Amino acid sequence: MILFENVTKTYPRTTRPALDDVSLEIPRGEFAFVVGTSGSGKSTMMQLVMKEQDVTRGRVLVAGRDLDRLPERKVPALRREIGCVFQDFRLLPNKTVFQNVAYALQVLGSSRARIRQTVPETLELVGLAGMEKRLPHQLSGGEQQRVAIARAFVNRPPILLADEPTGNLDPDTSLGIVQLLDRINRTGTTVVMATHDTVTVDAMRKRVIRLDRGVLVSDMEAGDYTTGSIPRIRLEEEAEAPRRADEPEASDGYDDGDPTAYDEPDGLPPIGRDADEPRSRGGIFRRHKAVQTSDR
Ligand SMILES: Nc1ncnc2c1ncn2[C@@H]1O[C@H](COP(=O)(O)OP(=O)(O)O)[C@@H](O)[C@H]1O
Ligand SMILES: [Mg+2]
Repeated sequence: MILFENVTKTYPRTTRPALDDVSLEIPRGEFAFVVGTSGSGKSTMMQLVMKEQDVTRGRVLVAGRDLDRLPERKVPALRREIGCVFQDFRLLPNKTVFQNVAYALQVLGSSRARIRQTVPETLELVGLAGMEKRLPHQLSGGEQQRVAIARAFVNRPPILLADEPTGNLDPDTSLGIVQLLDRINRTGTTVVMATHDTVTVDAMRKRVIRLDRGVLVSDMEAGDYTTGSIPRIRLEEEAEAPRRADEPEASDGYDDGDPTAYDEPDGLPPIGRDADEPRSRGGIFRRHKAVQTSDR
């Protein structure tokens, strides 16, 4: 779904790259945190996925598209598949909650009937039923971010990027927002969240990709921001695995929801995975090399 191959991004008039030879794969349906201190390259990574920036070296693939070869006229179609949420909400201040969310569908040319159905459904999903008529300034920060998430998700994009969505929120509110992103992830949407909010990352026990000054320094399954927990599987060895990890239907020992059916090739336990988490199971052990050569 999202693949970085030896990606280096150096901005004009800078010496040190913002991203330095980063390779990673985020399969469809996964929830991944990208962590690192300010300036470590998190936003740059997001912007490359959106093709708001171009790589200096390497390759970015998103939903089967090689972004370096994507003609400009096809960029809007790419962006329709990616919902975005930011630290500062970016709501239209003079529009109601309903209008803010509806706007995302209007620009896509959706019918009024579809808007009337989908917007309330989405507001309900994010926990804002009954707040349709409020203006952003009549909402708390957490509620405003929920509106922004509803707007990002209202056309059901396969990918949702959230760049420090809890950066302006207190810890309790932040946890609610991340749990909402988790709920969205459970509908099948791939979620990538950049953050340096250690508490929420630790609470969620999801994949944690860590950047340090543009370098990918660790990639943990069910990671723990502060200590790290389970080292991610060695990608080179995984290339030998007999399946594509981005195909959740593949027989990978997770598919039947029976944790005892788990059969991991080198003996690591399936920590951090619940039997009732159907969509994220396929992603634990991925065939990095094999996927790189595929044409998704
Ligand atoms: N548009 C830009 N022009 C020049 N340098 C930039 C630009 N955007 C980001 N950078 C630099 O790239 C590095 C990574 O930034 P960024 O991706 O924003 O990191 P993060 O989101 O982790 O704080 C920083 O050194 C930053 O100053
Ligand atoms: Mg940033």
